[in-house]
Amino acid sequence: MMRQAPPATSTLIVGHTSGTAISISNWRLSGTNALSINLAAFEKNLQKLTLADLVEATNGFHNDSLIGSGGFGDVYKAQLKDGRIVAIKKLIHVNEERLLVYEYMKYGSLEDVLRDRKRIGLKLNWTARRKIAVGAARGLAFLHHNCIPHIIHRDMKSSNVLIDEQLEARVSDFGMARTVNVVDTHLSVSTLAGTPGYVPPEYYQSFRCTTKGDVYSYGVVLLELLTGKPPTDSTDFGEDSNLVEWVKQHTKVNISDVFDPELLKEDPTLELELLEHLKIACACLDNRPSKRPTMLKVMAMFKEIQAGSTVDSKTSSACTVSNDDGGFGVDMTLKEDKDEKD
Ligand SMILES: Nc1ncnc2c1ncn2[C@@H]1O[C@H](COP(=O)(O)OP(=O)(O)OP(=O)(O)O)[C@@H](O)[C@H]1O
Ligand SMILES: [Mg+2]
Repeated sequence: MMRQAPPATSTLIVGHTSGTAISISNWRLSGTNALSINLAAFEKNLQKLTLADLVEATNGFHNDSLIGSGGFGDVYKAQLKDGRIVAIKKLIHVNEERLLVYEYMKYGSLEDVLRDRKRIGLKLNWTARRKIAVGAARGLAFLHHNCIPHIIHRDMKSSNVLIDEQLEARVSDFGMARTVNVVDTHLSVSTLAGTPGYVPPEYYQSFRCTTKGDVYSYGVVLLELLTGKPPTDSTDFGEDSNLVEWVKQHTKVNISDVFDPELLKEDPTLELELLEHLKIACACLDNRPSKRPTMLKVMAMFKEIQAGSTVDSKTSSACTVSNDDGGFGVDMTLKEDKDEKD
C-alpha cells in the first residue's frame, strides 16, 4: 500500500453535478491541465482543496478509511472540514499518483447493492431498479450528448453506477481508461477497454471506443437489473457463456424465465413492463453498433413506457426495437432531475 505523501503544494478541484447525473473531480499531482472536460457542464461551485486536507481527512490514507478497491486503486471515505463526506480514489501507478474525489454515495455501487456486498440488506424492488436504470441512462446520455467535448465512458458497468441515499444513480469513473493511459507510458493505447461481460463484440475487432460501445455496456447493466444476475460467472450460464448470451438464448424459448423471480414475486402483473424494458436492453445489445439506439433514444423509450404508450405498436418481436433515431428533442431533462417522480 502506498503511504508516501505527494507534493503538498498541489491543489485539488472538486466538482459535481447536482441531481442525478454525475459526480466528478480529477486531480493530478503533477501536470497542468486539471480537467480535460468542460467544467461548465458541472453546475455546483468548485472547491479547491489542498493535498494536506485530504491526508488529514483520511488519517494519512489509513486502512480504517478504506471502503473499496478496484482495478485502478483503493477508495477511501473522508469527511472534509466543511462537513462534506467524499470518496477519494487513489490511482496507483509506478511513478505518479492521482487522486480523484467523488461525492460519497451511501449505498456504494449498483453491483454492491445487487450482490449485497456491503451487507446493507437493501432490496431493490422494480420501482427502485427502474429509477436506477433511468438515472444511469441519463448520466450516460449527459456524457454522450451534453458534454463538450463528448465523453465516451469506456467502462460502463454496475460497479460504476453509484447509488445515493434517495436511490438516485450516478454514473462514475468515465474515461478512466484514458485517465490512466495519460499517466502510463508503458501501457499501449491499444489496450482493450472495458470489463469482461460488458465489452461490445466490435471492440474485439478494433480498439476504437464509441458511444455505441457504451450503449452496449449499458444494455448489460439493464439486464443485470432485470435478471438480478451478474454479467459473467453464474452457474446458470454454462462455461463459455455470459449473461447476454444466456438472455439471448432464452428469448428464443420462454422469455419471461430471464426475469429476477424476486420481481415477479413482488408483483406478477409486472411482467409486461419488464418485457418492455427487456426490449430496450436487447436493442442496446444489438451486435451491430449502428442498430443500437443512442442514449437519448433509450431515455425516450423509457418515457414512452412510463407514459403508458408502450413500444408494442412499433415492435414485432421481443428483441427488435424500432431503429428510428430521429425525432427526440434534446429536452430530455438531462441537466436536472425533475422528471423522476418516484
Ligand atoms: N463515490 C463513492 N461513494 C461510495 N463508495 C464508492 C464510491 N466510489 C467507489 N466506491 C466503492 O469502492 C468500490 C471500488 O470502486 P472502484 O471504482 O475503485 O472499482 P470498481 O468500479 O469495482 O472496478 P474498476 O476499477 O474496474 O472500475 C466500489 O465498488 C464502491 O463500493
Ligand atoms: Mg469503478
